[in-house]
Amino acid sequence: MPQSQDPTVVQTGTKLVETLKGAFHTPAGYRPVHAKGLLLTGTFTPTPLASRLSIAPHFNNPSTPIIGRFSNNTGIPKIPDTDDNANPAGFALRFVYGDRKHTDIISHAVPLFPVKTGQEMLEFLGSLGDGTIGQFLATHEKTKKFVEYPKPHPERFDTQRYYALNAFKLVDGDGKVTVVRYQIHPFLGEELFLQNEQVKSKSENYLFDQFKDTITGGETVKFRLMVQVGQDGDPTNDITNQWPDDRKIKDLGVIEFNGLSQHDEEEQKNIIFDPIPRVKGVEPSDDPLLEMRASVYLTSGKERRAAPHVEKEKANGVDGLDGQADGAAEIH
Ligand code: HEM
Repeated sequence: MPQSQDPTVVQTGTKLVETLKGAFHTPAGYRPVHAKGLLLTGTFTPTPLASRLSIAPHFNNPSTPIIGRFSNNTGIPKIPDTDDNANPAGFALRFVYGDRKHTDIISHAVPLFPVKTGQEMLEFLGSLGDGTIGQFLATHEKTKKFVEYPKPHPERFDTQRYYALNAFKLVDGDGKVTVVRYQIHPFLGEELFLQNEQVKSKSENYLFDQFKDTITGGETVKFRLMVQVGQDGDPTNDITNQWPDDRKIKDLGVIEFNGLSQHDEEEQKNIIFDPIPRVKGVEPSDDPLLEMRASVYLTSGKERRAAPHVEKEKANGVDGLDGQADGAAEIH
């Protein structure tokens, strides 16, 4: 995963990482957002449609090993699953098709994003920090829509949809391009959320414990990888500009997890998901946010890897990590 060659992108990206870490008081060795997570392993099985749309290996091989990381929002490593700021959850998915060869899809559980660019994200974070968020929301309609969008607690991580939001191009053997936005749906289709009263009766790790229990009990966790297919003229360079609801949603295959990582903490510290696909058959769209995000994730991931080994006691709240964020919860 190479760093961006554009110094402005790297500079803005570095500032974003610093600002996010500051907002959440994220300890070294953790992600400044989506800090609390769990790695799962499994396989992806594509549909025939996937191989018609793209020459990418994971859409053509009968099955491909995958790694998934489910996460709560915020840079607070011990945030209870029942905390409203834990939503929207994140789901990062890696298809592994060779030694050090892989491609990723990174998604979260809301079909919207608050800002269009890295610079706008910095301004949004700045307004949260200096108390001018009211003015910011009054002049940024899309941010307001994201902040106000319902973010209920799911029954389980696999009873809600996830959205990768940025547009991508699937390329077939003749070079034909299909512009898509990925979505990940519960395997049985239905989304199940908790009522506020039900949340109160749940334990602070109910989502992660449930996944661990399912896998150690010998069952699997399944989803469907879907795409919303764009039409001519649909915008691809603006994550805040949604496509009309009548765009077709197609099924690209089954995501199935059946294993837990043997060295979860260490591997979480090491793995850096990449917003840019970097595989033949899946191209980034013209959305400049992709390059910005790739730069941000690399800067953040390298800092995490360089940090001393994560100390369990600290992560368990001794160092004030259970504290609330500085009003920066609704970030992403
Ligand atoms: C301005 C835009 C964005 C910024 C500044 C940003 C920032 C970050 C940072 C700093 C990380 C930690 C990366 C690492 O240390 O490995 C991260 C991870 C993550 N982000 Fe973003 N992000 C942005 C957009 C998005 C979008 C659009 C989505 C969802 C569609 C998203 C979902 C996630 C998820 C799920 C993770 C956790 C990945 C993992 O498990 O390693 N982010 N983001």
